[in-house]
Amino acid sequence: MAIHRITLTVNGEHEIVNVPSNMTLLRMLRETLALTGTKNGCSAGECGACTVLINGEPVNSCMVLAVECDGAEIVTVEGLAHDGQLDPLQDAIIAAAGVQCGFCTPGILVNSRALLDRVPDPSDEEIRTALVGNLCRCTGYVRIIEAVKDAAKLSKEAGHGSR
Ligand code: FES
Ligand code: FES
Repeated sequence: MAIHRITLTVNGEHEIVNVPSNMTLLRMLRETLALTGTKNGCSAGECGACTVLINGEPVNSCMVLAVECDGAEIVTVEGLAHDGQLDPLQDAIIAAAGVQCGFCTPGILVNSRALLDRVPDPSDEEIRTALVGNLCRCTGYVRIIEAVKDAAKLSKEAGHGSR
């Protein structure tokens, strides 16, 4: 198996990593960089638990080879908090009790962050559409959607866009 040396940015940190040709981005994040916040729910592009941002776009990291990410900028759930402050989405999902087992939560947070960066005041429909690929077996989604709306409102009141 060929090994490739790639350079990329993960949560603002410059990384140089040796990866086998068949290693997914999900495995590289979890096994090589020990960023275990990103979850493996299905390994098949079905559940969204492994969602990360690649150059600002939400992607199922189980469906991307690490070697394809040479030069990319990756953000995982660990990269949402800044300077010890949780992202408003993280505060809101806790406050709204939108977390039960928590397995889906990292993917939902990352995908919702991408939505709010694109659409600072999304409708229920826009939130549902954005999260259509993120499966949650516990919450029934209502509180998750409330949390995204609350985070949008908090960010607006704070007067600094989506974060
Ligand atoms: S683990 Fe990637 S979509 Fe389920
Ligand atoms: S909180 Fe359990 S799967 Fe979503």
